[in-house]
Amino acid sequence: MKKETKYCERHGDYVAEVLPFGNMWSLCPICAEERQLKLDLDLSAEAAFRRNKKISENLQFSGIPKKYANASISGYEVTTAEQQRAVRYSMRYVEAFEGIKDEGVSMVFFGSPGTGKTHLACAIALEVIRKGFEAKYITAFDLLNEISDTFRTSELTSNVVKKYTESGLLVLDEVGIQYGKDHDSIWLYKVINTRYVNDRPTIVISNLDDQALEKFLGSPTYDRLQEGKGAAIPFFWESRRRKQNLKMVG
Ligand SMILES: Nc1ncnc2c1ncn2[C@@H]1O[C@H](COP(=O)(O)OP(=O)(O)OP(=O)(O)O)[C@@H](O)[C@H]1O
Ligand SMILES: [Mg+2]
Ligand SMILES: [Zn+2]
Repeated sequence: MKKETKYCERHGDYVAEVLPFGNMWSLCPICAEERQLKLDLDLSAEAAFRRNKKISENLQFSGIPKKYANASISGYEVTTAEQQRAVRYSMRYVEAFEGIKDEGVSMVFFGSPGTGKTHLACAIALEVIRKGFEAKYITAFDLLNEISDTFRTSELTSNVVKKYTESGLLVLDEVGIQYGKDHDSIWLYKVINTRYVNDRPTIVISNLDDQALEKFLGSPTYDRLQEGKGAAIPFFWESRRRKQNLKMVG
């Protein structure tokens, strides 16, 4: 191979070779390395940019209500062992989400009003999104409305169902209240069951106790939510909202 000593204005003398293509001399090796480094950096900056863009899009379209936009698991105050248990499950759920999203491990949060069910579930969804996955939040009422709206418009019902059956995680809040017609709840089963058969995780939240929720959803659906490593976490303690009101008065 033809070699020649060349001079780089920045790095001085170096041995250049004729490159196999054309009649070009090789660059100064230090300049060449610097150039490659810059290319690599640009590439990872581009990947990071794309990832951040995806995350902010997922946040924007998550449906998480403004009230819970800053909810965090660590911001959930714990005073009892039951609350500790709910927090521990939530943390583990986020930590293990990479596997959970393919295994379809679901959870049920059930219990009294104002106990932080929506807070913790939104906190989970937010952390899952920050990890780079897609998560959606919707109440059963809004889901049924979004679905029944399609009966009157040109939008396909299946597109709405898809939106909620294909996201990495779905938080389905306020399940258990009978809205309107009986066949409404068929659509809830449809969404929960479609996610189940595709191994996609769902967090269902309800004010009903476990027996009433089982009756509402039907045993097969209720069982599916707790299959494998899934769990039903009871939230029965004093309402946080009432506590806050007392503080404001006294
Ligand atoms: N342990 C807690 N630590 C900090 N904030 C809490 C805690 N529990 C509840 N909150 C706050 O109290 C308010 C009510 O909680 P949240 O809306 O999550 O209750 P919920 O269980 O979903 O009630 P509901 O069944 O009526 O929907 C929220 O602002 C929430 O952030
Ligand atoms: Mg709630
Ligand atoms: Zn050089």
